[in-house]
Amino acid sequence: MKDSNQFQMSRRGVLAAGVAAGVTATMGASLAAAADAANGQILRAIPSTGERLPVVGVGTNAFGVTAPDELAAIREVLRTMPDQGGKVIDTARSYGSSEEVIGRLLAELGNRDRFFLATKTAMRADFSTGAAVLDDCFQRLQVSRIDLLQIHNFGGFDELMPHFIEYKQAGKIRYIGCSTSEDRQYPQMLEAMEKHKLDFIQIDYSIGNRGAAERILPLARDKGIAVLINVPFGGRGRSFFPRVAGKPLPDFASEIGATTWAQFFLKFIIANPAVTAAIPGTTTTEYLRDNQSAGRGIVPNAAQVRRMEEYWDALPS
Ligand SMILES: NC(=O)c1ccc[n+]([C@@H]2O[C@H](COP(=O)([O-])OP(=O)(O)OC[C@H]3O[C@@H](n4cnc5c(N)ncnc54)[C@H](OP(=O)(O)O)[C@@H]3O)[C@@H](O)[C@H]2O)c1
Repeated sequence: MKDSNQFQMSRRGVLAAGVAAGVTATMGASLAAAADAANGQILRAIPSTGERLPVVGVGTNAFGVTAPDELAAIREVLRTMPDQGGKVIDTARSYGSSEEVIGRLLAELGNRDRFFLATKTAMRADFSTGAAVLDDCFQRLQVSRIDLLQIHNFGGFDELMPHFIEYKQAGKIRYIGCSTSEDRQYPQMLEAMEKHKLDFIQIDYSIGNRGAAERILPLARDKGIAVLINVPFGGRGRSFFPRVAGKPLPDFASEIGATTWAQFFLKFIIANPAVTAAIPGTTTTEYLRDNQSAGRGIVPNAAQVRRMEEYWDALPS
């Protein structure tokens, strides 16, 4: 695995980020100074508008549940998240009934406006037009406005993009972007970032998977594109937690404000100044409290990030 060059960016990128954030110093630990949201969440600016988001949200690929106890747990996550300072919810058309569950629960809770609602879709064979594919997202989520719509894994990118632009111009979508969690799609991601006016990208990046820090995250900084980080713990079903089960945190974890492994992993991600928000899969209020805590307090500096990488790389797999 190559070293991450996460603290490098061009002068143009520094200026773009600085203007958007309304700050001049945006690197490393100084980002902690941007914490002023509810509950002290660290905020990061979306470069295309300057709107600021808390650095830890939730991913919802496991929200497509029907069992009453699982639904109740997810309802509690969505009910309590805003008061903890969280805002970003990421879902997708392909996550079973996740969009529908979120739409139903937010309508019932009456708190949709407290969230930044992001979803993803690809072109679908069961719809005759790209516009119909987009309309389906609104219906499933029961909303008239989607904060961020992303083209999922480049499925039908060229066909969908004109509709994304049209819907954004009409004010139905506030931001547009595209996502992947596959290295093999990184060349497509880089091309899309160069050729299209994207507000956001969504990419896989974590302490155990640092490839995005080589070119994609620096380019996002340069181009002024906001970044959501998916699979921050390595992904459901292949997460890092078994690897650290029963292992104490390293002594230096207290220096970066991490009291659990989840916080350690998330602190690593938010240390990269290109990152706008990480979206860990969060199905319980216990996980929510833990993950949201990582979005407060200290942001590791470059030396601390190096130590985290060295520690992780030396752990038996
Ligand atoms: N191509 C794409 O665009 C793409 C691809 C994949 C994912 N995503 C997005 O990324 C989000 C996150 O991915 P993911 O959920 O697969 O993987 P993840 O966030 O890396 O990991 C989720 C796993 O971590 C566990 N977990 C969560 N919080 C924890 C905590 N505080 N302590 C201990 N364990 C914890 C969960 O446990 P449980 O199993 O107990 O719930 C689950 O197994 C998805 O929900 C989705 O929104 C996007």
